[in-house]
Amino acid sequence: MQTLMNKRVLLGVTGGIAAYKSAELIRRLQDQGAQVRVVMTRASTEFITPLTLQALSQHPVHTELLDAETESAMGHIELARWADLVLVAPATTNFIAQIAGGHGSDLLTTLCLAAECPLAIAPAMNQAMWGNASTQQNCNLLTQRGIRLFGPAEGLQACGEEGSGRLLDVDAIVTQTRELFDTGILAGKHVVITAGPTREAIDPVRFISNHSSGKQGYALATAALEAGAKVTLITGPTSIAPPERANTIGVTSASEMFDAVQRSLEEADIFIGVAAVADYRPVNVSEQKIKKSAAPSNSSVTLELVENPDIIQSVANQDHRPFTIGFAAETDNVIEHAKNKLVSKNLDMIVANDVSETEFGFNSDQNHTTVLWPNRSEELPAMSKAAISSRIIELVAETIGENNG
Ligand code: PMT
Repeated sequence: MQTLMNKRVLLGVTGGIAAYKSAELIRRLQDQGAQVRVVMTRASTEFITPLTLQALSQHPVHTELLDAETESAMGHIELARWADLVLVAPATTNFIAQIAGGHGSDLLTTLCLAAECPLAIAPAMNQAMWGNASTQQNCNLLTQRGIRLFGPAEGLQACGEEGSGRLLDVDAIVTQTRELFDTGILAGKHVVITAGPTREAIDPVRFISNHSSGKQGYALATAALEAGAKVTLITGPTSIAPPERANTIGVTSASEMFDAVQRSLEEADIFIGVAAVADYRPVNVSEQKIKKSAAPSNSSVTLELVENPDIIQSVANQDHRPFTIGFAAETDNVIEHAKNKLVSKNLDMIVANDVSETEFGFNSDQNHTTVLWPNRSEELPAMSKAAISSRIIELVAETIGENNG
């Protein structure tokens, strides 16, 4: 289970002999799904090269505060804003003193002052330096300010002495980092969501579609990300931006959405079908624009349609199926129609939306929904699609918990 999925860790490396362990730390954090960017103090580059950490993190390593080129690409404020966690490992006594004193003397210390996300520090130094009253006082100050201290560990030191001050084992640093984030109700889960409309081509310039804007599906993707899940968002054409951290796959037609869903299912724990998938598509797609003049004046035109594959039903009928949630937009007998879809499509849950009023459902910011399970239901008050999505994600997590318990 990758519990750091989607998390952005800014790794600060300061100048001590344990700096070489930051290479392994980058790998282990990435194994847990984290994105890692690296900031090094000048002294740390004497112990391990920026090139090594650049190759491992797959991003440029930042070392200088007053470097016009780097600042224009991703400056210290952007780096601070980018991070979900600033982790300084190893942290020297000098770095700890600088932070305790509120100094911004180089890129790393400045960035720590600018960061609004949590800051964690893994000290590494000689045992006498660690035991020194100033170091202890500074560390107490940092802890009081809510800065986490990871370690240090005890044991034989590079200088040959024995005692407290060693950098905590890389695995223990990763575990403690995971514990900082391990609070999301969907932490470690992979959620696949379909959203938006599909377009079924008639000819090169015309298509059959519907009014889905993608707002409900994108709001659910955001809520799932906030709950700690990895999210794959398979979306028909929309004019809104998908959540930045979702793995977004754009498709046009129902057949393309079907194929993209099949490819994404292997590691999916949860599937949510929010897309308004066209039930039918034209049997023949004209390669040329169909001319009005082709038919006699005042005559009618008939489009022959064929049924599209039912995406959610194919997901729900797989041997190793994910927990599967559908949506049903209805204008009449809302609950009855939704219940029928829950059963006929073999779903675990369905969200019924009453779209008889234009302020709810398609292309609106609000929705009015009832969540149905095979044996119960819960009506949610009319509210924003973001608020509804948070509640749906809570209900999904609760139901999965009940099924597993
Ligand atoms: O995008 P918005 O503007 O925010 O609007 C949101 C919404 C109204 C589109 C959304 O809340 C919603 O209700 N989506 C489902 C629309 C619908 O009526 O679907 P349906 O009744 O045709 O299908 C039921 C379920 O089967 C849905 O989960 C749908 O994604 C799925 N389906 C349908 C047909 C098909 N060929 N494949 C499918 O997977």
